[in-house]
Amino acid sequence: MYTNVQKIKSLDKTSSVLYLVKSFDELNANVFSYEELTYIEGQSKNNKKTSFSFNRYNRWDFVEIVKEKDNHFYFLEQLRVAADKFVGLLNENKIESIGIHTLSFSAEESLAFTEGMVLANYQFNKYKTEKETKRNTLQTVFITDQSLDQEEIDQLNIVAEATLIARTLVNEPVNYMNAPQLAKEIEMLAKDAGAKVEILGKSKIEALKMGGLLAVNKGSIDPPTFSIFEWKPENAINKKPFVFVGKGVVYDTGGLNIKTGTYMNNMKADMGGAAAVAGSVFAIAKAKLPIYVIGLIPATDNRLNNNAYVSGDIIKMFNGMTVEVLNTDAEGRMILADALAYAQKYDPALVIDLATLTGAAANAIGKYGIVAMGSKSKTYMNTLKISGEQTGERLVEFPFWEEYEELLKSDIADMTNLGAGGEGGAITAGKFLEKFTKYPYIHLDIAGPALVEKRFNYRGVGGTGVGVRLLFDFAKKQVSK
Ligand code: BES
Ligand code: ZN
Ligand code: ZN
Repeated sequence: MYTNVQKIKSLDKTSSVLYLVKSFDELNANVFSYEELTYIEGQSKNNKKTSFSFNRYNRWDFVEIVKEKDNHFYFLEQLRVAADKFVGLLNENKIESIGIHTLSFSAEESLAFTEGMVLANYQFNKYKTEKETKRNTLQTVFITDQSLDQEEIDQLNIVAEATLIARTLVNEPVNYMNAPQLAKEIEMLAKDAGAKVEILGKSKIEALKMGGLLAVNKGSIDPPTFSIFEWKPENAINKKPFVFVGKGVVYDTGGLNIKTGTYMNNMKADMGGAAAVAGSVFAIAKAKLPIYVIGLIPATDNRLNNNAYVSGDIIKMFNGMTVEVLNTDAEGRMILADALAYAQKYDPALVIDLATLTGAAANAIGKYGIVAMGSKSKTYMNTLKISGEQTGERLVEFPFWEEYEELLKSDIADMTNLGAGGEGGAITAGKFLEKFTKYPYIHLDIAGPALVEKRFNYRGVGGTGVGVRLLFDFAKKQVSK
């Protein structure tokens, strides 16, 4: 279904080939004629052209020149971006498979380009009738560089698949992807990956007194779900698990504080955090990384009916603390707080939550990065930042000063769910969540990058699957420490 990457000893003579180079000088007179080389040299030097194609009638030869950057991570990102353009060219020419010859590239660099290709080739056309579908032709990428380990290629295929699954979870509208359906999808992913899964339904959630999740769910016709996705291999390097928590608001109308104007657009993507957690635990399990991880995914839609929670309600949360609701649109923190408190029972090494939590985070840095905050987690935060640079899912750390807490004071409950005055909105949301944590903690607000309205290079359009590659890389770094 997704583009497959395979290592191959040699390509047959009718296979189209890409020569991926850092500069024109690497190209070889065995492949290109003198005239072609002169042309490429002239165009790349004078016109800064980086992309060339030669029709050999029964196949194509392509050249992509991606100039090396001083910043290594930025170069990896440029490779993924160039791969996206290249995939467009392949599909335009109805090409089904392509061999990649890299000459002066490291394994990491070749993999970045190939990963960019697979991610770029994703389409979500389930809801288009056949006649309307412009299906991409590209199916297989052959890598000829024998220095690449099979394991690295397997991992590339797994992580790309997991990212694309996360995109699909986000792209599915709520009239299909409601909370029970999301739980079913997680169950299927766990089975596929050979991991454990437990789905708590409404009665169990009630018995556990998850007041935050139940309050948000009051206005819904669908029951809430709470999915527990666990990968605990025998050879795990850690006793205490890494717990990932994902916001699974399958649709956010705002509730009685209803979203107006265009603010409700794309709110099917309010489960981008859930998709990232499901995707990353799936990938870690499928790749059999020797690390103990748990994904927790509280899910519901945030709607309104006669019974919906209202501003002024005081909610008793899973951990017994009370919250005065001042805005029903600040629902993400209500369901996440219960999941974060629940995570305590695992005595976790670290908990990372991912959530499309605030417009404030999206406004601050846009789709270009993830807003991060943390407590008791400096070393982990530093590693996660490196994973962010490595994968192109960059983190920007916001302050997490205790002064922000005063903005959450309530006269009649332990706290409000709304930062007074709206100042530092992304931070007060994070501070609210922190109150439910007693362990090393990192909060990632992905409201900006989780969904893009226009095609954004290899990230595509719609759900981007942000967070999957980040968490997988972070897990790998823990293993190889
Ligand atoms: N799901 C939204 C945040 C969001 C906004 C995600 C834009 C993606 C794009 C969240 O539940 C929300 O509505 N937040 C409010 C919080 C406010 C009421 C404190 C917001 O950001 O306006
Ligand atoms: Zn909301
Ligand atoms: Zn929301």
